[in-house]
Amino acid sequence: NGQWRGVIEEYRELLDIPQDTPAVTLREGGTPLVHSGWLSGLTGAEVWLKVEGNNPTGSFKDRGMTTALSVAVHEGAKAVVCASTGNTSASMAAYAAKAGVTPIVLVPEGKISAGKMAQAVLHGSQVIQVRGNFDDCLRMAREMAWHYPVALVNSVNPARLEGQKTAAFEIVDFLGDAPDYHLLPVGNAGNISAYWLGYTQYAGLGRATKRPVMRGFQAEGAAPLVTGEPFPDPETAATAIRIGNPASWKLAEAARDESGGRFAAVSDEQILAAQKQLAARDGVFVEPASAAGIAGLLSELAAGVSYRGATVAITVTGHGLKDIATALEGLELPEVVVDADVDAAARAAGL
Ligand code: F0G
Repeated sequence: NGQWRGVIEEYRELLDIPQDTPAVTLREGGTPLVHSGWLSGLTGAEVWLKVEGNNPTGSFKDRGMTTALSVAVHEGAKAVVCASTGNTSASMAAYAAKAGVTPIVLVPEGKISAGKMAQAVLHGSQVIQVRGNFDDCLRMAREMAWHYPVALVNSVNPARLEGQKTAAFEIVDFLGDAPDYHLLPVGNAGNISAYWLGYTQYAGLGRATKRPVMRGFQAEGAAPLVTGEPFPDPETAATAIRIGNPASWKLAEAARDESGGRFAAVSDEQILAAQKQLAARDGVFVEPASAAGIAGLLSELAAGVSYRGATVAITVTGHGLKDIATALEGLELPEVVVDADVDAAARAAGL
């Protein structure tokens, strides 16, 4: 009966939020699980892509923002704040607009893509650029929410993970069980923690017979969960995961340990190559950070890791149109111009 209702109405009784919270929703979630012929062929596994760029603001953040904004507004908030590398702020701004509250955004100066900045601005945010990195912004956002009348909606807000865990529910609902492995990019580490929460809850309810092995991939220049030490000056072309001291560090380590998983680093070159290959081979265009899980799978295959016979889910977290500047960097744009004549066009196309 009718369209997908958004993650709160689809899964309300499974979410640990006040059950009478009215939903502030843009009908997020219900994203496609797309079979990857390319990666299935390479691995001898069944590889499924959870395409989170299909959410209303183009990233997985909408799942947690519907819950965070709904709870904050229900509790009387008139303004909301977040630190962001761009996607959290785009999402918060949209849900704040929908709810009629003021969004305040703290971002590292010059380090968020133009598309994400456009989203924050058009949805009506107060955008404050900070001379510092994401970790500085997050410290400021926490302090601002402590001292001023504004609600914090970063993933340290537990309502965020409650919403984000629904992606795990959807994967199990579609596959009929949990996958054997789940691979995804890791930055502030909220998402891997949320997936683990979701998989654990479904296994506890008997809706899945197992939980997947969790493998999280970070950019080499921002890989604190790999080295076990914070990165004071994180750097990567995948700006969405340019984070040196993840807020959900402990939860992410628990997901790794309880699942028998691991964290590994991939280089910017591997990330950007994976982004291009995924677009060209599977028709799925994701932003650089979103390709970290794909890059991770490819680098493991090269190192001899086997996925043969397994079911593998990989989250691709955000849409490619979020950051076209990075996508086009170093590419020669085709400059084929012809007269308005079909034969000339056909010749130029090599027909
Ligand atoms: N992929 C994308 C596209 C992201 O925007 C983020 C995080 C991640 C992966 C990592 O997810 O932080 O839960 O481990 N972006 C945040 C932001 C930090 O501000 O938009 P995580």
